[in-house]
Amino acid sequence: MIKYEQKEIILHIENLSVTYDNKTIIQDINLQEKDTVREGITQGQCIAFLGRSGRGKSTLFKAMTGLVTPTTGSVLIPDFSKPAINGSQPAKYVHEGDVGFVDQKYTLFRHKTVFQTLNFALRNSKLSKKEKEDKILSYLNDWGLYAFKDQYPNELSGGQRQRTAIIEQLLCSGFYMVMDEPFSGLDVGNIQNVKSAFDLISKSHELNTVIFSTHDIELAVELADSIYVLGYPKLENGNFANYGTIIKNFDLKKMGLAWNDEFTKDHLDVVKEIKLAMLNS
Ligand SMILES: Nc1ncnc2c1ncn2[C@@H]1O[C@H](COP(=O)(O)OP(=O)(O)OP(=O)(O)O)[C@@H](O)[C@H]1O
Ligand SMILES: [Mg+2]
Repeated sequence: MIKYEQKEIILHIENLSVTYDNKTIIQDINLQEKDTVREGITQGQCIAFLGRSGRGKSTLFKAMTGLVTPTTGSVLIPDFSKPAINGSQPAKYVHEGDVGFVDQKYTLFRHKTVFQTLNFALRNSKLSKKEKEDKILSYLNDWGLYAFKDQYPNELSGGQRQRTAIIEQLLCSGFYMVMDEPFSGLDVGNIQNVKSAFDLISKSHELNTVIFSTHDIELAVELADSIYVLGYPKLENGNFANYGTIIKNFDLKKMGLAWNDEFTKDHLDVVKEIKLAMLNS
């Protein structure tokens, strides 16, 4: 069993619901995630959301990134611009820009090169021109993009575009990175690239938190340290509600299944349990 400690709350979603045109899409979403600390290593957080199509994963992500205003409830993150009180940061409502959002299309500026895109992402930073340049070049090196720094989006492969979009969000937002289906439509090599990206993000700052959705249950169990399953809850009369909510949470840290190099039978059992839960929601 890998030892870890849970420190301050880094994400708190309380009684969240989102309604579009009088139709409730998600409701009663409650969750709390804490900073996970492991002795001697920098360990970020990796949280996965699973659920069948239409259960509200993308809607929840839009609320989490401040792109959609909740109908009820709130999404709270620590306010790092304020001093800590008794060792913990005061909380704030999430706003657009606090949380990086990488959508499935990896949208980039058409008329900016990779370097220009990343430089633009640092426009509000207090770093000097030279410091910005050094920072960008070091990211480009780490992410295998140095040779492509002067190329435009249409001259990049899908995987290169995606990595540029991830770095762009890493540079201009705080510790959070929300990725909606980052693995869909990728070949085996690019899946590996995104996995390494998760690893790099996690190892580069204690508070870094990757939140992603996927339809690949095995991959979620392999990568995440906490998994939420969204589904339609069963009502008392036996019918399903037609809004999404969290029907299950697996804390893989507590289960001793997080950060394993191997995919064991216990991991497979979790996959089976998730499948069953999804089929019944
Ligand atoms: N802007 C919108 N206006 C009205 N309804 C919407 C809007 N966006 C999404 N919906 C509806 O909300 C529900 C949930 O959609 P959402 O995209 O959040 O699901 P999802 O879990 O991400 O699905 P998928 O796995 O297919 O990506 C769907 O029924 C969808 O039609
Ligand atoms: Mg979606």
